[in-house]
Formats: sequence, C-alpha cells, structure tokens
Amino acid sequence: MCGIVGYIGEENSKDILLNGLEKLEYRGYDSAGIAVLNDAGMNVFKVKGRIAALRDQVDDEVQATMGIGHTRWATHGEPSVDNAHPHQSLSERFTLVHNGVIENYYEIRDEYLKNMDLKSETDTEIVVQLIEQLYEEVHDVQQAFRQALSLLKGSYAIALVDNENSDMIYVAKNKSPLLVGLGDGFNVVASDAMATLKETDRYVEIEDKEIVLVKRDQVQIQKLDGTTVERESYVAEIDAADTEKGTYPHFMLKEIDEQPLVIRKIIQEYQDSDDTIKLDEDIRKAMKKADRIYIIAAGTSYHAGLVGKQFIEKLANIPVEVHIASEFSYNMPLLSEKPLFIYISQSGETADSRSVLVQTKQLGHPALTVTNVPGSTLSREADYTLHLHAGPEIAVASTKAYTAQIAVLAILAVDTARAKGVELAFDPLQELGIVASAMESLTDQKESFEVIAKDMFETTRNAFFIGRGMDYFVVQEAALKLKEISYIQAEGFAGGELKHGTIALIEDGTPVIAISTQDNVNLSIRGNVQEVAARGANACVVSMKGLEKDDDSFVLPQVHELLTPLVSVIPMQLLAYYAALHRDCDVDKPRNLAKSVTVE
Ligand code: M6R
Repeated sequence: MCGIVGYIGEENSKDILLNGLEKLEYRGYDSAGIAVLNDAGMNVFKVKGRIAALRDQVDDEVQATMGIGHTRWATHGEPSVDNAHPHQSLSERFTLVHNGVIENYYEIRDEYLKNMDLKSETDTEIVVQLIEQLYEEVHDVQQAFRQALSLLKGSYAIALVDNENSDMIYVAKNKSPLLVGLGDGFNVVASDAMATLKETDRYVEIEDKEIVLVKRDQVQIQKLDGTTVERESYVAEIDAADTEKGTYPHFMLKEIDEQPLVIRKIIQEYQDSDDTIKLDEDIRKAMKKADRIYIIAAGTSYHAGLVGKQFIEKLANIPVEVHIASEFSYNMPLLSEKPLFIYISQSGETADSRSVLVQTKQLGHPALTVTNVPGSTLSREADYTLHLHAGPEIAVASTKAYTAQIAVLAILAVDTARAKGVELAFDPLQELGIVASAMESLTDQKESFEVIAKDMFETTRNAFFIGRGMDYFVVQEAALKLKEISYIQAEGFAGGELKHGTIALIEDGTPVIAISTQDNVNLSIRGNVQEVAARGANACVVSMKGLEKDDDSFVLPQVHELLTPLVSVIPMQLLAYYAALHRDCDVDKPRNLAKSVTVE
C-alpha cells in the first residue's frame, strides 16, 4: 500500500528518496512522487506508474538536501498524476504526503474549504489545504499542523514540508505506520524501515496522535497538546541484503526457496538448551488460561490460522474459532468467558486485524500477535508477540510467512499441551527438521512443477483445487496463490462438496488439482477426482508418499500427518509462480494488490 520516505541532511535528497521508494515498491502502488526543497523553492515530480518512470522525470540537475516522497495505492480517486502525492496547498507554500484514509474529508471540505478549487480527488489534498487555511488564521505552522490533526478522523501517516523552512519536516501519525530513522547529521522518515535501511538501522517509533519535528540534527516528539515525549531508539534487525533479489528473477521464487532455512531458523529460535520449547512464560500462562481461542487474520494468514486451529484443538484440547478479520470487525460472535485472541499477520500492519484488536482490547481480552515484524502495530498493541523469524517477505504473494506461521502455531500448540500436562508423542522441533528437508527436496525439483503449470494453466480461464481435512485448508491457499498472481479464476473446494453444486462447473479440460496427504480421506478424495475426470476435467493428484497411486502427478516426501500443509503447499506455490510466469504476469507486484493492507 502507500509508502512514505523523507530525508533531511547534507546529501542530495532526491537519490535517497527515489532509492527508498524503490524499496517500498513491493508494497504495491499505482503512482509515485517526490518533492525536494532548495533555495529555488519546492520541486515536485509525480507520475502515474512505476518509480522507474519517476526517475526518468526527475531533473538530474536538481540538488536539495531535504524532501519527501510517496508511493500511492489509490483509495480516493483514480491512479493519476493529479491524485499522486505530494500534494500542495493553494499558495504552494505547504507540501504533504499521506498514508491512510481521512474518514471525515467531506465534512472538512464542506466546513473549512468551501468553494475552494481543489486540484485532486483525494482525501489527502484536504489535509494540506486545511493546514494552509488554519495557518492563515494563527500564523504559526506548528499550531496550524496541530489544529488540523485534531480535526482529522481516520488513519494517517503524514510528512509535511513548509517552503519557508528548509530545516524541518513535520511528521504525524494515527493508526498508519510511520518511523523516524536516526543518522549522523541527518534524519529520515519512513512508513517501513525497509525504505531507509541503507541510511540507518536506528529508529524511533511514533505513537498514534503524536507529532514529530524532524531536523537534520534533532528529532523532537510531541503529543498533540504540545508536551514533549522522550523515547529510546531501537536497532531494526533487518539485514539490508535480505531485501535484495540476488541472482533470483523474482522475490517470490527466492522466498519459496528460503522456506527450509526459515523452518530451521524457527527450530533454532524456539528450542531451549535442553531441547524443550523456549517460549515466553506469560504466553504459556495466557494460552493455558483461555477457555476458547479466537484466531483473527486475513488472506494467507487466515489460511494458516485454519491449520493452526487443528493443532491447538487436537493437541492442546482448547476450542478454536478462526475468523476473517474484516468480517469479525463488524459482526462479533458471542465470546466465551475467558477468550484469548491470536492475531496472525505477516506484516503486523493489516488494518482489518488491527480494527478487531482495538475492539477486543477495549473489551479487556488478552491478545497475542504472531508476526514477521516485531515492532509492527499489531505487535506493539497486543499483550504478547511470537516472531516468525522468516526474514523480510517482499513478494506480494505470501509464501515463507505462511509456512512460518504454521510452524510457529504447531510449536505453540505443543507447548500449551505440555503446559496443561497432556502427554504427546509428537515432538514438533524434531518433526519440523524432517519438514525442512522435505521442503528442500521439493524446491530442488522445480522443473516438474513448471511442466505441470504449463500443461494445466497456460491458457485456462479457471482452475479448481480440491482436498479434504488438512488438505482442504491447503487448497484454499493454493487457489489464492494462483488467482492473485496469474489472474486465473481459481477456487479451493472440499472434495465432498463438489457434488453439492460445484461439479456443474466442470467442462472438458477444466484443470482440477487434488491434494491427498491424509490417510483417512485418501480414498474419498480419489473418488472425487474420478467424478471430475469422468466429466472431462484435466485432473491431477499430488499425493504423499505411502498414499500414492501409479498415475499421480507428483508424490511428496512423507512428513508427520499434522504437518503435511508445510510440504503440500510448496508445489502449489511453485505452480502459481510458473503459471504467472508463463502468462507474462508481474509475479512480485500483481495488479491491484498491496503487500501490506493498511486500509480497512
Ligand atoms: O500481513 P498480513 O499477513 O496480515 O496480510 C494478510 C493478507 O493481506 C495477505 O496474506 C494476502 O492475502 C497475501 N497477498 C496473500 O498472498
């Protein structure tokens, strides 16, 4: 989604801003711009499209030691140069970039900006015009900024520059992520540390409804009422090399290949010296105390939650409900007496999940966030965090975060079972070691999946995935992966449901992929494959060793029955990848999508 970068220092800011915006490309955007201030005034460059086009447009000669930049993912108004940020006030004195959604922008327009000839259709322009309007009354930029913020409803991360003050970037946030990075003789602003890792690894968090005055050699945090806030900086534990593709053609392929390493890293991080599970005692207590667990997530993380439910119910005997965050938010079910909420989110910034977290915190219920980004909003606002240790995930299509989520949930479930005195024969750390090797053998056989992808998906308009039990959860993820990056209309169905309606969609050549990794449903899912094949489907089966039949398309290495999703999903990720590649799709940055969905 939208991204912000700001720089104030001694270097030429345009290069730092453009490089930073490039690092944010993975989040998804449709237009971009920068504004840099020098003695000649404000220089604004904006394009619809990619940063490469913005680079071409930016004047090579321009020198300026401060500026702000933005990637926009359209919410109010179509993707266009006019709607791209930065936006300027009528007199062009103030220039601003904004992430988030101003919910009361019509009200502000009608009350404060009547008859003004606005230049864009965005909610953002309202903010910069409001600041100028208020400045004309109070003649003090900080005061005008503060007053404007107090009128805004909704979410925002804002960076503002005043043409008449090249020594300061005014920054503020509410609900949308924003960080200030600290340097020697310079400071930076970023909606994601990834954008400025080349400049610094030292950051200061900004809390909601705070203002930050960012100068070259000073950063001052204030509350909206003007009182100063002291806050320690922290070092972001992201290796800048992890954010590069290296020799890979796409981040998605790199991230698929990284999965065995991630699983081994998780084993290392969650293993104590005596081979027991290392986990925060408070999390253990919270899990033990819960009479029901509510897993809240979106997209791929929701699919990981469906698998996690099986672990927690089967191993720790605690009932679990898995909910789509955006639905739960507006339609909360009856809650148990002692609920524990688990928020699963790769980015830790998903606005739909955050909206639920805010509500459940208000109700006084404990919250645990399982995320790849400790320090993210969902991590900071929950009581506890479990880290995925997957390293930065850049491709929009989530792969390694999904398997990391499942692995961490398996460890959590076993730890809870042990804490409750349940005797288990299942050792997750040992079994995950076997999974890592199995994953490796699959990523080593990519060509097989490239061949299947070409056969099944090169020209099709639709595709179906079927499975039962654990495999049903994986086929839902398989369908999401395929549709989001190849734009093939794909669905994941429970094998037994076909005859209740879906089978009507099967025509000559319709691709149907079945997963069979569960002994108790192996025969029934194969029966379902026969049913679709008899109606002309181009059907194939991916089975697990021990359950295979002669004409299966691929046989997966055997792993513990509970952990099969970690292995069966790898071919599905690779099939989606090659399908997108053969259809000339932009694998890492699929149309209309954003990596981190920070608007509801
Ligand atoms: O960062 P989150 O895990 O909270 O993101 C949730 C979804 O937006 C995300 O999983 C999305 O579905 C991915 N594009 C799937 O590949």
